[in-house]
Amino acid sequence: MGVVAVAGGTGDVGRTIAEYLAGSGKHTIYILSRKLKQVDSPVPGAKLLVIDYNDAEAIAATLDANAVDTIISALGLAGGEGQLKLIAGARKALSTTRFIPSEYAAYTPPDAEENKFTAGVLRAVDALHESGLQYTRFAIGMFMDYFGTPNIPSHLRPFIWGVDIAKRRAAIPGSGDEIISMTYSKDVARFIERLLEDGDWPEYSIVSGSDTSFNEILALAQEYTGNVTYDSKEKLDKNEATLLDDSSYGGMDPRMMMSMLGLQIIKEELKLPEEGRLNDRYPEVKPMTIAELIATAWKKG
Ligand SMILES: NC(=O)c1ccc[n+]([C@@H]2O[C@H](COP(=O)([O-])OP(=O)(O)OC[C@H]3O[C@@H](n4cnc5c(N)ncnc54)[C@H](OP(=O)(O)O)[C@@H]3O)[C@@H](O)[C@H]2O)c1
Repeated sequence: MGVVAVAGGTGDVGRTIAEYLAGSGKHTIYILSRKLKQVDSPVPGAKLLVIDYNDAEAIAATLDANAVDTIISALGLAGGEGQLKLIAGARKALSTTRFIPSEYAAYTPPDAEENKFTAGVLRAVDALHESGLQYTRFAIGMFMDYFGTPNIPSHLRPFIWGVDIAKRRAAIPGSGDEIISMTYSKDVARFIERLLEDGDWPEYSIVSGSDTSFNEILALAQEYTGNVTYDSKEKLDKNEATLLDDSSYGGMDPRMMMSMLGLQIIKEELKLPEEGRLNDRYPEVKPMTIAELIATAWKKG
């Protein structure tokens, strides 16, 4: 039995992970949070530890005082400076030996070009590499939850893109045949738990519930979807993505975000490598497929 701290366990992805780990009862689970006052943990069975992401010494003292051996970071937008301090604190702590950085996204190769989306991820990996901590980087593609919300259990805030099954509309980048890897959030937590039992962590922990495409999702949801628009690369290059929903995700400009995401899909950057997947390493962990998720979420009553 280990002692695991989930940084950002109050958020969407972190809460999913903390809840699954606390529920299965194999480890002692803490949630690290910036909350100034001790408040109730959002996860039954996981105690909240208040932490200051500006102070590596204090982080190390908190980790040692609670004998934390593993940190799972799920800080928002891949962590930023706070995560670098968390890595520094973990490095100083005598009890902490393992660290999963906040990624849970596309596969970012070690030689990836640094831009505003990859910079935080690459800096965290450099810090982990130098730290001597054991680490692994989770690449999961996109979360599949978005195609079942609000009809499947999920802590992820809604994000309507590609195919809006509830409103029978679609705005698809490219041809719609480009491959996108997708994983249900609770399956990411299941693979993390399996990996905690393994002493040998790969550099990348690649998980895919399905390697699918928007045209496949349209076909699976065809009874529910009416209007379909295809956005060309030229249109996306001009930041002119068709929006299914104009609300902002995390404060970002929705048209810019959808255009960038669309261009990534056209380049198949959301298709995960097939080599070295945790799916093959742990075949007993069977993730939800997109066909199962859509059938479960949208079956007619
Ligand atoms: N592939 C995908 O489809 C996809 C989708 C969503 C997210 N993700 C990734 O998953 C990870 C987690 O995302 P999320 O949406 O779950 O995050 P989130 O809910 O926005 O934030 C998680 C937690 O991080 C802490 N936090 C936020 N800003 C912080 C800061 N500046 N410094 C320190 N802590 C901060 C907060 O906890 P406290 O206030 O309690 O400290 C918050 O509850 C990110 O790396 C994100 O990019 C991937």
